[in-house]
Amino acid sequence: AEDGSAAWLRYAPVPAAPYASLPSHIFVHGDSPVERSAGAELARGLTAMLGRSFDVVTKRSEGSIELTLASGASTTLESYTIDSTRRHLRIAGNTPQAELYGAFHLLEEIAAARPIPAHEASTAAAPVRWTNEWDNLDGSIERGYAGQSFFFEKGHVRQDLTRASAYARLLASVGINGCNANNVNADLDLLTSDHLKEYARLADAFRPWGVRLALSVDLTSPQAVGGLPTFDPLDPTVIAWWQRKVDEIYTLIPDFAGFTVKADSEGRKGPAQYGRSPADAANVLARALAPHHGVVLYRGFVYDNHLDWRDPKADRARAGVDNFAKYDGRFEPNVIIQIKEGPIDFQAREPVNPLFAALPHTNVAIEVQASQEYTGQQRHMVWLPSMWRWVLDTDLRAEGRHTPVKEIVTGRAFPLASGAPRPGGFVSVTNAGLDANWMHHPMAMANLYGFGKLAWNPDEPLDRILDTWTRLTWGNDPLVVRTVNAMQLKSWQVYEGYTGPNGVGTLTNILGYHFGPDIESAERNGWGQWIRGEKNGIGMDRTAAGTGYAQLYPPLVAARYESLATCPDDLLLFFHHVPYDHKLHTGQTLIQSIYDTHYKSAREAGEYAVAWSTLEGRVDPERYRQVAALFNFQAGHAIVWRDAIDTWFERISGIADDKGRVDRH
Ligand code: GCU
Repeated sequence: AEDGSAAWLRYAPVPAAPYASLPSHIFVHGDSPVERSAGAELARGLTAMLGRSFDVVTKRSEGSIELTLASGASTTLESYTIDSTRRHLRIAGNTPQAELYGAFHLLEEIAAARPIPAHEASTAAAPVRWTNEWDNLDGSIERGYAGQSFFFEKGHVRQDLTRASAYARLLASVGINGCNANNVNADLDLLTSDHLKEYARLADAFRPWGVRLALSVDLTSPQAVGGLPTFDPLDPTVIAWWQRKVDEIYTLIPDFAGFTVKADSEGRKGPAQYGRSPADAANVLARALAPHHGVVLYRGFVYDNHLDWRDPKADRARAGVDNFAKYDGRFEPNVIIQIKEGPIDFQAREPVNPLFAALPHTNVAIEVQASQEYTGQQRHMVWLPSMWRWVLDTDLRAEGRHTPVKEIVTGRAFPLASGAPRPGGFVSVTNAGLDANWMHHPMAMANLYGFGKLAWNPDEPLDRILDTWTRLTWGNDPLVVRTVNAMQLKSWQVYEGYTGPNGVGTLTNILGYHFGPDIESAERNGWGQWIRGEKNGIGMDRTAAGTGYAQLYPPLVAARYESLATCPDDLLLFFHHVPYDHKLHTGQTLIQSIYDTHYKSAREAGEYAVAWSTLEGRVDPERYRQVAALFNFQAGHAIVWRDAIDTWFERISGIADDKGRVDRH
């Protein structure tokens, strides 16, 4: 039977003839755990795919696959080369990890039945390429849709960490080098000495794959764990407590990556309680971590969830810039502000977070969410790299220059005074679980795979990323590859098309579990995801006359969003309050476009099951049935979405569908 946990590392047989000259001896120069993993992985993968045996040997010979550290290696960003001649293949990395990445790359080229490169060189775009897992010590996972935690159970690190180490291998195979294992809403007793010893076992499980452990910490820890009367970040006893705690962590976990911090947000306590700033709090942790080369990922997701919905100036989207821009340049060099891609919360469509352009003297990373909290929770197929690429390519025109988000998070748009890029990077909230296949929907693994690829190289063409994943996951049968690629490529647009229209928000149930349509749950509460839908119009006025949010972008982008003449249709209702018969740039009215798009997109979602049925017998029966069932569910749920949204709009606007499809109530 198919092993679901293999994901894209199935190593299914490929036609061996093109690789007949590949030497069967693998010689690894180094003997670090990571280099040993690399050698063993090559032997395992090549043997399985090519149907002859490959072995790791202890003596170097002409005519071998050689894994080595590059001479004169620098260690700033991981970088590898692959060079091959007829009888010899050499993978050289500037670090042991980079050797491992080179090995995985060779394996994936062969798995995708591509020629072995004669010469290839590749370098990571940024140092931080992490996942965040929102696992709680009790074994539950916040916003996880694929079972319980494989790190924790009943308040402790699990005894059996086989799955944790298998996960680290998956992460490493796409270049991910850090894993923050616990929920950003951190357990208050996370940092007790007893627990720290347990995390050391987790770090041990990750280490052979070059994945470093990070932890989310609650800023009240000096009080909650340390018993101090205060957690004021500027109190000397608090500063000393963090130093001792960090030192204790590093005696147990010498390669510990650092902390993620959620504070002053959604009920988490933070420095605001003492009138201190995010910089005050982040810097205390950063100074404790600096001697050990650890970093602080301080989240920019700080907002007030008790906003007054009657106030036309109140706007949750403003919070990131309002709370952080004034501290630009005040953070220690090992602090990175972790910024969600959009200003609200992983909606199907949001504008890019303006905070990216507001911190030119601060390190930043982008946070995306492979866990599909608002995008179908791994029960709908939605290929999110399409969205992430759109975000990464968005040019914010900071200082009137070309400053796409990808240049900002890789530290190149606003380099350090030395001219070197700022350290920054990419974080994915992934929330994989104990389900055999990690993410529940076999198609959802393409999101984790795509995240790793974009974090390594945000310029890698999307169709290539997808094509590689499809071949590795489903095999090289041309019909299978074509069919899966075509479905995945349009799946974000399709999902957006049957959920919240024109940037208004996903229109899911926002008070509960964020799944299924519940249009007005966004209104009349403190959460600030308002859509401002009423008889005469809909949308948040975020122009200068409204909340002023549009003006938080650099001037060229602000002007584009401010004006109805230039604001793109897909963000219209994020920025403007307009009547339902407002004419879009396409010439259609808003309301008719909503009706049409919902019918078209729900129909397209229904076509996945039909297209998939043509692949019966071409993929293994177990995964075939699993995906068929999920596509059937999606087809039905897309109709539920379509009808909930179209009938709501029909009722509130009083304007009928000109094709007569929407029921009048
Ligand atoms: C969302 C999500 C929460 C999570 C929060 C965060 O609001 O629903 O569960 O804690 O994001 O990113 O901190």
